[in-house]
Amino acid sequence: MTIFALEQGWVLETKSAAYSFGLNKAGLLAHTYWGKKLPYPEDYPQPIDSEGWASFNGAAHLTPEEYPAYAGTSYIDPCLKATFADGVRDVVLRFESAEIREGNTPELAVHLADAYYPFKVTLHYRVHAAHDLIERWATVSNHGDTPITLERVWSAQWHLPSGDDYHLTHVTGRWLDEMHLRREPLGHGIKILESRRLTTSHHHNPWFALDHGQTNEDTGEVWFGILAWSGNWKLSAEVTDFQSTRVSLGLNDWDFAWTLNPGETLTTPPSCAGYTQDGFGGASRLLHDYIRDTILPHGKTLHKVLYNSWEATLFDVDEHSQTELAEIAAKMGVELFVMDDGWFHGRNDDTSGLGDWWPDAVKFPHGLSPLIERVNALGMDFGLWVEPEMVNANSDLYRAHSDWVIHFPTRARIEARNQMILNFARLDVQDYIIDHIDRLLVAHPITFIKWDMNRNVSEPGWQDSGTDDARQLWVRYVEGLYRVWGTLRERHPQVIWQSCSGGGGRADLGILRYADQIWVSDNTEATARLAIQEGFSQLFPANTMEAWVTDANAEALSLAFRFHVSMCGSLGIGGHLLKWREEERSEAAYWIALYKEIRPIIQLGDQYRLRSPQNHAFSAVQYMSKDRGEGVLF
Ligand code: DGJ
Repeated sequence: MTIFALEQGWVLETKSAAYSFGLNKAGLLAHTYWGKKLPYPEDYPQPIDSEGWASFNGAAHLTPEEYPAYAGTSYIDPCLKATFADGVRDVVLRFESAEIREGNTPELAVHLADAYYPFKVTLHYRVHAAHDLIERWATVSNHGDTPITLERVWSAQWHLPSGDDYHLTHVTGRWLDEMHLRREPLGHGIKILESRRLTTSHHHNPWFALDHGQTNEDTGEVWFGILAWSGNWKLSAEVTDFQSTRVSLGLNDWDFAWTLNPGETLTTPPSCAGYTQDGFGGASRLLHDYIRDTILPHGKTLHKVLYNSWEATLFDVDEHSQTELAEIAAKMGVELFVMDDGWFHGRNDDTSGLGDWWPDAVKFPHGLSPLIERVNALGMDFGLWVEPEMVNANSDLYRAHSDWVIHFPTRARIEARNQMILNFARLDVQDYIIDHIDRLLVAHPITFIKWDMNRNVSEPGWQDSGTDDARQLWVRYVEGLYRVWGTLRERHPQVIWQSCSGGGGRADLGILRYADQIWVSDNTEATARLAIQEGFSQLFPANTMEAWVTDANAEALSLAFRFHVSMCGSLGIGGHLLKWREEERSEAAYWIALYKEIRPIIQLGDQYRLRSPQNHAFSAVQYMSKDRGEGVLF
């Protein structure tokens, strides 16, 4: 049994961890335990009944509420903030009922309701026992006849065992330099990490790991968690003066408001969290297995060695240039040839074409078929680059539908990389994109799509939203993205999709339900890549990490080293093959053949970060097959 009900609460047990909470005498749903699994149900602590500390810090402030709403005297960063139609702005949640659903991934639903208004909140828990993870999300519903305005609705608040000596591990970065691992003491007060950019962003990631400062890669306690969402998100890590430490994750409440009309329900994205005594490496391996076993659409499919044309030919793609590259790639053992940007109508540089998703008639006078046939005849699959959410002013699409972009009518439409963002919250935009990408996939044997997104939002307006609340854009956009991607996936299940946003700008567990892989960074210089890959590997398994061997810093770095770095993930080649000498091509063929032999261990095995590139001139990574019969050491 992985979920059991106690007299006053519930215990959720995984393979080696446990999580519990219950109702205290005041009727508050209070967190009680998160850590190592204990021998008997009676071993788990009872909810505390605090008497408070002073008039300034009453019982509410000292009770670790499982899902605190903004109300009363708790002064804790709450998960929920709402305004009722009469202007009342606090929410008093009371327990109503709970139910357990047994199965492979057992679930618990705890139903709460406001003490006065017809407003209900359900806290959902799902136990991933084998992965030592608990998944949480919330649904909020309006059962009355007047609207309720939600100003914050987070997925979870994760409570750490009492203490204020935690260290926070997270990743930060920027374009060309993503995912740097940071470890710092978590001081009193609130530490916020977030995205306000419409996507997950290159800058931070909705992931945390907390420890007591002594944990290393191999041993020590780690409490860690993620949010599965590809839009604006927020992580709030709070340490109080009463040794209470908690981390909340959810939709960003910055510029957020959501009118919940009578009869409506809003469901938050899920947050997953886990506990291990096996150090940061152990925490990563749990996440890796969870992602491969339950999140990825193609699960444990081995990814093919691909060639990508971007760094070789940029926008200068045509049948001739791509065929020349494909012929060399095939001889080296490449299995999938991907034509990147530049192939579609009017796309000669980054000022035009986005939105017009049909082959450029000058570059491909006979369409894409002759190139694809040639690539297939060479024994390779064919893949294509698209950037569906974007439009250039110089495109047929923008000339026909300039109102489709995210904008405010009285403001300039700021362009970044000469492009604007199509409003994916709109159904007509979603349908247009589904239709055009679908046509490409129906007409051609395309087995791989790289889905790119090369700017962040500005002027987040949505005049014709049909609601008073254009701020719903932040969430509706992501839901629209998921709908478009999900529909295309369903129609073309054979296609492997890659999430790219100028490199790693959209790397999260929300997008991995649609994308099989992530393009980690536009920085393909192998030494720089080591640190980026180290950060990426904290969350994501090697099969999701596409890594190319390119010509970046080739004067200084041997081909062998560049291959080794890329072989740590899903191997790709991105160099200008026409410029590679014959010896380099045959050396590449050697590494590609070796990679094919060892790729099941790398892509599907257990990863051990032996020496960090942050601390050592020589770093080391090891992969072991699940049965421990085979290993690879870089
Ligand atoms: C940004 C991507 O990260 C690159 O790999 C490449 O696809 C370019 N966009 C193409 O415009």
